[in-house]
Amino acid sequence: MNASQLQPAPAPGTTQGQQTLYGGVTNRRVTVRDLAAAKQRGERWAMLTAYDSLTGGVFDEAGIPVLLVGDSAGNCHLGYETTVPVTMDQMVMLSAAVVRGTKRAMVIGDMPFGSYQESPAQAMHNAARLMKEAGVGAVKLEGGERSARSIELLVEAGIPVMAHIGLTPQSVHAFGGYPVQGRGDEAAHQLLRDAKAVQQAGAFSVVLEAVPAELATTVTEQLAIPTVGIGAGVGCDAQVLVWTDMAGMTAGRVPKFVKQYANLRSVLGDAAREFAADVTAGTFPAAEHTFK
Ligand code: KIV
Repeated sequence: MNASQLQPAPAPGTTQGQQTLYGGVTNRRVTVRDLAAAKQRGERWAMLTAYDSLTGGVFDEAGIPVLLVGDSAGNCHLGYETTVPVTMDQMVMLSAAVVRGTKRAMVIGDMPFGSYQESPAQAMHNAARLMKEAGVGAVKLEGGERSARSIELLVEAGIPVMAHIGLTPQSVHAFGGYPVQGRGDEAAHQLLRDAKAVQQAGAFSVVLEAVPAELATTVTEQLAIPTVGIGAGVGCDAQVLVWTDMAGMTAGRVPKFVKQYANLRSVLGDAAREFAADVTAGTFPAAEHTFK
């Protein structure tokens, strides 16, 4: 049985009379059954990345139902150029921090490059680490048909899997950058085959990254499991953004598909400059910050 075949659970918000994933007071985490039920209701939901307990806690309190401890931590949190160098130990540490900082969101741990491609047995070993050592509720891995056997094994073992197809950043060197995927008939058919393969393997959801909007809508309509778009248009069931892009923490250019909802980089920079100016001027600490 896969996630899409399960009976939908009462949504977290129903304790408050709400049929939504958002905003309801709840004493438990969002589950794969809640997400399956949201797809049946046609309810869209948001997912954000988080890499530490503080930001995870902020997003949890804001009612974001699903938090992804993405291997985008590599370039957004750990200072690497790509996601490729990220290790399992780093993902376990970051995922555990997000789990500790949250109460309600489903926390998904991303499987980094080299942690699952070798064999389904390797995928099982490392997914189990994320479940046991970090306490995540699900894992994510990249690849469609090529990852189907691993997804099947994890799902059989009771590990919920979110798949990730289209632009898969761990293949940046094979792609020669981050090009839009699924353009042209053959590529579009392959994307659809990948989407169906991960659903058939038991994935509870699939990320579609950098895919033409019309194709992502077609995939979404043809799948029973929720699609999560990033650069895939408004036709997906859910949307994900990297939090540092979403909140304006990222330095320099962000991809076309990003909407920045704040300018945290400038807010934090201003705060740091003001603090430094107070210190050099001798106006901090003032009397109210000083013990007598
Ligand atoms: O690592 C990540 O943050 C991701 C999302 C962009 C989907 O894979």
